Amino acid sequence: MKKTLIIAVLIAIAVGYASFRKNLIYDLGQTTAVGVPYQETPQGLTSLKAETCGVCHQEIYAEWRTTMHAAAYTDPFFQAYWRKDEYEWSCLTCHTPLENQLKQRIVQFKNGDFSQPQFIANNRFDPELQQEGITCAACHIRDGVIYGPYPAEQLNAPHPVAYDERFLSEQICLDCHEVPAKPFSFLRSGICGTGGEWEGGPYIKKGYRCQTCHMPEVTRPLVAGQKSRKNGRHLWRGGNSPEQVAKALTITAKRQGNTIKVDITNSGAGHNFPTGDPDREVFITAKLINHKGAVLQIKELHIRRIIIWKPIMIELSDNRIKPLETRTLSFEIPNWLSNKPLTLEVVGVYQILSERARKKLETHYGLKNYPPVRYSFVKKTFNANEL
Ligand code: HEC
Ligand code: HEC
Ligand code: HEC
Ligand code: HEC
Ligand code: HEC
Repeated sequence: MKKTLIIAVLIAIAVGYASFRKNLIYDLGQTTAVGVPYQETPQGLTSLKAETCGVCHQEIYAEWRTTMHAAAYTDPFFQAYWRKDEYEWSCLTCHTPLENQLKQRIVQFKNGDFSQPQFIANNRFDPELQQEGITCAACHIRDGVIYGPYPAEQLNAPHPVAYDERFLSEQICLDCHEVPAKPFSFLRSGICGTGGEWEGGPYIKKGYRCQTCHMPEVTRPLVAGQKSRKNGRHLWRGGNSPEQVAKALTITAKRQGNTIKVDITNSGAGHNFPTGDPDREVFITAKLINHKGAVLQIKELHIRRIIIWKPIMIELSDNRIKPLETRTLSFEIPNWLSNKPLTLEVVGVYQILSERARKKLETHYGLKNYPPVRYSFVKKTFNANEL
């Protein structure tokens, strides 16, 4: 009884607070609130566009074009959600981070409150650059200089260059991949809060960075015909890539007498599996099948975060698999079957967004031509008599 009362009071306070900071679903701070100020084109170049960089950095440009970073604005899923969130301005601080990409720019925040920005038209708005989402310049250009992982004296570049250690650490990723939970939202970690999951995990100690897995190392020239150097492929594969998702899990099975245990380990992701966008869900289904193909037993694991969004955010549960954590599904084989030929089949399905959410976005918020949102990323079969 007492507990219910406390919860009711908390909800009442939070509803009040939530309606005060109406649309925001996360806490804004200095970095997430302002994005990157207006940037001039560095000397020696004709524009900030990725295409311009691509004239020389051909391979990196070709890689970047295939990524969700390049699609962070045009992505129909983003566009539909953004429309649903009433074109909330602050979404753009990560999805099109440069001021050059904004139609309107912020002059000031009323009373210093990040939820109350005041805008004027941006006469330096570049609509083509807006389409590029997280473009090269968003990460590399500040004040006319192109920053990167090498000291300037090692390079022979036709544009100003400088070394910035952030390129070799997770810091450059966390500006956007650690969306803080706002106060009075009952979340254990932020939305798209991959950074927080990583920070508490085992991979930092092993010397891994986000780049280790997401920008695989390669030795090649930065520009065709130049000296070869160690560098990072600009691939950033995630939930939209079945090959990347397949790297997350190791599935093994063992049998002791009539008990079969299937171990599902997050052996390949430096953070929770799945991570990021709370729409992501994973279904693991293990089936025990007889020699005629009939399914005798099914065990399932549904891995996800459940969040209530309105009127306030409350996380009801989170059973995502932490880095190096193992989940086990067990089967008990009845005695009469113990010597019969049996097959164990384990299938993993990754869901980008639920069918229900997709329908809602299609019906109300203009989502169109969105590719499949569920796919199977792993299938393993074991002979249960030889485990
Ligand atoms: C999301 C941020 C981000 C974006 C967008 C981005 N880069 Fe990079 N870039 C990096 C990081 C991080 C490194 C360092 C990778 C490493 O060496 O591990 C890097 C390195 C480089 C290097 C040095 C060689 C290397 O790979 O280390 C070049 C050249 C480069 N980027 C060009 C580009 C071009 C051209 C684009 C656009 C087509 C682009 N980058 C887009 C983050 C970014
Ligand atoms: C005319 C050719 C050309 C263009 C256009 C060009 N670059 Fe470069 N860039 C180079 C060369 C050459 C180097 C040095 C390569 C070397 O010495 O190995 C370089 C080096 C770099 C580095 C390494 C800097 C460091 O300190 O680690 C980055 C990052 C980079 N370029 C990004 C970009 C981006 C982003 C653009 C577009 C805004 C761009 N470049 C446009 C030719 C070009
Ligand atoms: C300026 C903000 C920003 C920075 C910096 C940034 N990201 Fe992202 N990243 C995003 C956004 C936004 C998306 C989602 C785009 C979409 O799907 O609409 C994304 C998507 C991704 C994805 C998921 C791709 C998929 O298939 O869904 C991966 C992986 C990723 N980023 C890794 C990185 C890594 C590693 C770094 C650091 C080197 C980094 N990002 C730096 C904003 C950023
Ligand atoms: C040990 C390798 C490894 C490390 C280190 C790692 N990741 Fe991942 N990452 C993966 C794998 C595998 C996946 C695909 C499975 C999944 O979604 O968890 C993934 C998926 C993602 C996604 C996709 C989420 C989505 O919704 O599509 C993002 C974003 C991401 N990682 C960001 C990061 C960032 C940021 C860091 C550093 C803080 C990082 N990763 C460190 C392996 C790694
Ligand atoms: C602090 C940075 C940040 C802000 C602000 C932000 N996002 Fe994102 N968003 C990300 C990152 C990082 C991802 C990468 C995918 C992940 O983590 O799963 C992402 C992914 C998404 C995706 C999934 C895209 C896909 O292809 O699966 C949607 C939709 C999205 N964001 C919509 C929004 C909307 C709408 C807002 C404003 C209410 C917003 N975002 C504000 C960083 C941000």
